[in-house]
Amino acid sequence: MWQENNKLDVARMSEHDPERHKRFSMIDAGWRVDYSGFPLTCAARDELLGLAGTGELARAVTALFSGAIVNPSENQPALHMSLRAAGPDPELAEQRERFLHLAAELHEGSQGLTDLLHVGIGGSDLGPRLVADALDAFDGRVRVHWLSTMDGRRFEQLTRRLDPARTGLVVASKSFGTEETLTLARAARDWMGAGFTDRSWASTARPDRAVEFGIAPERVLHFPAWVGGRFSLWSSVGVSAAAVIGRERFEQLLSGARQADRRFCESPDAGSLAVMLALLMHFLRRGLDLPTLGVVSYEPRLALLGDYLQQLIMESLGKGVDLRDRPVDQPTAPLIFGGRGTDLQHSIFQAFHQGPETHPLILVGSLADDHAYPEWHRAQLSHLLAQARALTRGRSDGAAFQRLPGNRPVALLLTERLTPEGLGYLLASFEHAVYALAVFWDINAFDQWGVEEGKRLAAQIRQRLDRAPVSLESLGKES
Ligand code: F6P
Repeated sequence: MWQENNKLDVARMSEHDPERHKRFSMIDAGWRVDYSGFPLTCAARDELLGLAGTGELARAVTALFSGAIVNPSENQPALHMSLRAAGPDPELAEQRERFLHLAAELHEGSQGLTDLLHVGIGGSDLGPRLVADALDAFDGRVRVHWLSTMDGRRFEQLTRRLDPARTGLVVASKSFGTEETLTLARAARDWMGAGFTDRSWASTARPDRAVEFGIAPERVLHFPAWVGGRFSLWSSVGVSAAAVIGRERFEQLLSGARQADRRFCESPDAGSLAVMLALLMHFLRRGLDLPTLGVVSYEPRLALLGDYLQQLIMESLGKGVDLRDRPVDQPTAPLIFGGRGTDLQHSIFQAFHQGPETHPLILVGSLADDHAYPEWHRAQLSHLLAQARALTRGRSDGAAFQRLPGNRPVALLLTERLTPEGLGYLLASFEHAVYALAVFWDINAFDQWGVEEGKRLAAQIRQRLDRAPVSLESLGKES
C-alpha cells in the first residue's frame, strides 16, 4: 500500500499548494504535527487515517486500560497508565506519595545531601534522565549524577570529587538483577561506607533482592511487576528526576500524561497525537518501507528525546513473531536515532540532503522558552524550518554537486513552549503510539526476550575472561 507514493513530488506539491501544510497537519493538546512533507496525496492520507477507525484499535485500547493480558509471553497486563491516574488504587497512591515525598526532601535539601547517584540502565535511566534534563529549573539543592554503564574511569573521577557523607544513592532496577546496575551499586555502596544504609534507596519490583543487597526495607520504593521497564518513568524510577525538578513539576508531568491517557482511551482516533504518531510511523515503515527514523530536537530541553525513543520504540517493536508466535513477514521497528539540532546539521545532515538513501525525520521544536537569550531560540526554530524546507523542496539550480533532490519525508512536531504537562502528554502519547503500532502489526509491545541471550552469553564469556587473561590474538576464540 502507498508504495507508489515514494515517487510523489512533494516539493512541487508544496510549491503549488501553499495551503498544503494546513491540510496535512493536526494539533492536539498544544502539540502540532505537520506532515505536509510526507509523500501523501489526500486520498492516501484519508486511507492512512482510516486505519485508526476500523474498530480493531478501539478494542485493543479497551483491553489495555481494562488490565487485560496484553503481554502474553510474560502473562502480564500493561498498566503503566495507573501510575499516573488521578485516583490510583490505595497501594499505588501510597507508593507515589512515598517517592514524591522523598523527592521533595531531596529537592529542598532537607535530607542534607548535596549529591545523589542514580544508578540504573535502559528504562531505569533514559526516561528519568530526559525528564530531569528537560524540566530542570536549577532550583534544586541536590545534584543528580546518572550512572548507567560500567565506566570505571568516570566512577573514579566522580567519586573523587564528591563527599560520601553528603552523597545519596538510588538504585533503580525493576528486576534488581541487572549486571551493570548491581556492579555500579556495589561500588557506590563500598565507596559510601558506613553511612550507606542511611543514604540509599531502591526503586524496584523486587524488594526482596533490594533488602538482600543491603537497602533498608523502609527505603525500598516498590512498584508493581506489571510496569514495563521502558514504561516505568512514572513510578518511583522517576524519583531522581523528581528530586531534580521538584515535586510540583513532576506532578504536572503526571497530569499531562494522564490527559494523554484519557484522550487515547476515550477516542483513539487520528485527532489524538498518539494515534497520529502511530499512523505516520506506520506509513514510513510499512508504506514506504523505510528502515530508519530520526527524531531530532531543536528544542534543547528535548536533546535526550531520541535516546529515550530508541528504547521505547525499538525494544517494544523490534519483534520477529506475532501474537500467535508466527514469523512476522513485514518490517517492524525502524532504527531510531536522535540528537540535537543544530549539532546534527554539522555531522549527519549532509547525508540526508544529498545521499542516495532516504532517512525520514521528525523535527521537534518549540516557539519560545524562558531564558535570557530569546534570539537563540528563534535561531534554533529558523534552522528547524530551514532544514524541513531544504529536505522537502530540495535545490535544483547550481552544479550537480550543489543540487539537493528534496522529497525527503520530514514531519514537524512543535509546541508553543515546553511545559511539564506538555512533556508528560508527549511521552505518554509516544507510549500509546507504540502500542497502537503493535496492534496494527499484531505483535507484543511489552516483552523483550531478545536481550536475554546476550546477557547469558556475556556471563559465560566473563567466566572465561576471569580465568585466563585475554589477548588480542586470543579474543577470536571468545566469540
Ligand atoms: O534492556 C532490557 C531491560 O530489561 C529493559 O527493558 C530495562 O529497562 C533494562 O533492561 C533495565 O532493567 P532493570 O530495570 O530490571 O534493571
